[in-house]
Amino acid sequence: MKLSRRSILVLVGGAIIGVLTPAGQAVLRYPPPQFTPEEAPVDSGDAAGSMFRASARGAVFQGRDGDRFVFRAFAPEPDITVQGSAEGEWQVEVRNLHPEAILSSGTSDLVETKSNLARTVSGTAAESSFRFHFPKRERYRFAAIGDTGGGSELRWVLARADALGADFVLHLGDFNYGKGDYLGTVAALDAAGIPTYVAIGNHDFYEGFNSIHKLFRQHVGPRNASFELGGVMFVNIDTAAGFIPPGGGARGEFLGALERGEHIKDVVVFTHKPLKDPRQEESHSIPGLEYGFLRGELKRLGADTVVAGHIHIKEDFEDDGIRTLISGQGLAHADLIVDRPIAEILLADVTPDANKVDYHWAPLEMPFELHCNSRAWEVLVALDKPGVLRQLKEICAKP
Ligand SMILES: [Fe+2]
Repeated sequence: MKLSRRSILVLVGGAIIGVLTPAGQAVLRYPPPQFTPEEAPVDSGDAAGSMFRASARGAVFQGRDGDRFVFRAFAPEPDITVQGSAEGEWQVEVRNLHPEAILSSGTSDLVETKSNLARTVSGTAAESSFRFHFPKRERYRFAAIGDTGGGSELRWVLARADALGADFVLHLGDFNYGKGDYLGTVAALDAAGIPTYVAIGNHDFYEGFNSIHKLFRQHVGPRNASFELGGVMFVNIDTAAGFIPPGGGARGEFLGALERGEHIKDVVVFTHKPLKDPRQEESHSIPGLEYGFLRGELKRLGADTVVAGHIHIKEDFEDDGIRTLISGQGLAHADLIVDRPIAEILLADVTPDANKVDYHWAPLEMPFELHCNSRAWEVLVALDKPGVLRQLKEICAKP
């Protein structure tokens, strides 16, 4: 059967979300409010028996063992400061850095070691600060995609983005579809060839009706953050939580303090939920007051583009002056529905001579055998695609 484009949009965007988690779908429509959400810590503070403390800008503090500190970058150029009462040995590991990131510091005795995307910096000075710079280049590329889960599809997406020449990935949320996905995601991100900055999705925020956003803060990063690179401001905002009023909570505070510098030529807002759902049949648009608040903030920042996931489609449309790019095909279930590879990943180029980020799409080319999981099978059963399911099970049964 040949499906019309409209049918594919409805099937891929709506049905699959329902198949995956009925409770999740209820959450989509009736988000419980978060009155006092905490943001991710960027400072280790002091600890008994330890000489030093460490703090960061652009990296979240993940833990310490005495005077050994671990941070995870959520921006391409994080700064770290180490402070102690006297000289002594300390070590800082920073994860999720570009493999060609360059360490710079005014402190002379720093020793740096590298392990994939992580760097460990050791020193003895009582006070030290250092920064990792994104590799110097005329142009850079990033990829954006969400709704991957935390398994083999995510690993493919990260490898594919790398192969397509991206310097980093904006993950648009929803990696936590099942047991083990949180830590599976962190392991996949750490094993990737390029760093990833993640927007929190509703499945990463809630498990059924339980709030699990602390896990995001602990393992992944802040739910609201911004950084600049090559004259472009990136703004990561949490659209997984419900805020009452919409301008309240950590997101409201974060946006209220955010200003667009005069040197900024373009703004990339990346988030999980698009402000507007382009489909008529089943709308996941952000509701009234929240929509108004977010639009107002985008206008204030001069941001005319939103990059989002949540709906398992690829779309590029204008919503009253705001270009919305939905890149939610991270599981490539669209391939299963039409029985040929059609899923795509969003790419974006930043060049010194252009004032705007240049967005375009590339084939995701997810290998068919990566659908060897019960999640894909359930989708095929729900959509009544016995032929594709049989074909998939035959491939999955092969040793
Ligand atoms: Fe979602």
